[in-house]
Amino acid sequence: MTSTQSRRLHNFSAGPGTLPLSVLEAAREELPVFGKTGASVMEISHRSPEYIAIETSARARIRSLLGLTEDWHILFLGGGASMQFHQVPLNFLPSDGQAGYLLTGVWAKKAHAEACKIGHGRIVASSAESTFNYIPDPESWVLDRRDSYLHYTSNNTIYGTQFHSPLNVNCPLVCDASSDFLSRPIELDRYGLIYAGAQKNIGPAGVTVVLVRDRFMKTRNASLPTMLDYGTHAAKCFNTPPVHAVYMVEKVLRWLEEQGGIPGIQAVNQKKARLLYDAIDSSEFYRGTAQKASRSLMNVTFRLTNEELEPVFIQRAAEHGLLALKGHRSVGGMRASIYNACPLDSVNVLIEFMRDFEKKNG
Ligand SMILES: Cc1ncc(COP(=O)(O)O)c(C=O)c1O
Repeated sequence: MTSTQSRRLHNFSAGPGTLPLSVLEAAREELPVFGKTGASVMEISHRSPEYIAIETSARARIRSLLGLTEDWHILFLGGGASMQFHQVPLNFLPSDGQAGYLLTGVWAKKAHAEACKIGHGRIVASSAESTFNYIPDPESWVLDRRDSYLHYTSNNTIYGTQFHSPLNVNCPLVCDASSDFLSRPIELDRYGLIYAGAQKNIGPAGVTVVLVRDRFMKTRNASLPTMLDYGTHAAKCFNTPPVHAVYMVEKVLRWLEEQGGIPGIQAVNQKKARLLYDAIDSSEFYRGTAQKASRSLMNVTFRLTNEELEPVFIQRAAEHGLLALKGHRSVGGMRASIYNACPLDSVNVLIEFMRDFEKKNG
């Protein structure tokens, strides 16, 4: 084990999340001098052939990993996923029009609030009445074909819920896939746009990947502010992109290919989640917070039957080298974020710790 390996702890951070060690080490090696440029990747022009090659490679890898045809634009934008909450309706919701929103958590609510500043953000279904601990049954959704699009959050980072079936809707889908992007395949047919902040599954904070289908792009509103018009970024490199973040994403994509691409990582993700949920379900001491059919494979949220012991659990876990298990401040409890780059070994160490903690405190 290298000295770096031995100092790295088991990281369950919800975001920015853990990155593959091999990617960090490769980036460290290249930090002062990138290739034959004689400078760091952070110090060269975003219009240089060397940087353009990085973006081209990142786009080609995303295209191939997800099976995106040429009619999909792949954009690397700044402003975080939160910027997309506004940019999507600004581009695609006419001021006298309507768009559907599935309210399955705080991020979805924030996206909906931005839509309401522009046009009619119609609530299609909500699980707010039950602290967003489930995905509403599609039977209960109020669909309307007049919607310009239907927006949903594929994985709800705070509540540990995730959509598990393709959405059957009668308008283009727009998806905030920030916390499960590239963790499983996407059936692309119905989608117009998919966005994801990089900092959970595919890289560091600072870049948001936006996939836009060309025929959906053509439906956008007129006279948009230049920087907020998706068309600007699809047409050319308009301004300086977040170069270092894109560089890191490109490395994570290569790593993902080495894991067997999406099918490979999906199998590992399923295994990690199954082990952890089995550990929770097989004990009276722990209890999962999301309804079983809606459970996320990325963020596993749970509580202790004796909630008073939770701060002790989190403290002891940290002493044991298990980082960032505290649930989101709005819901409390515990959350283990087990994104693509979280090793199976970390999940096994967590489960061992949970069993041991139960023995000592149960
Ligand atoms: C599902 C989801 N959407 C959006 C966001 C906001 O992302 P950003 O901080 O990049 O704006 C988050 C952050 O955790 C998230 O989990």
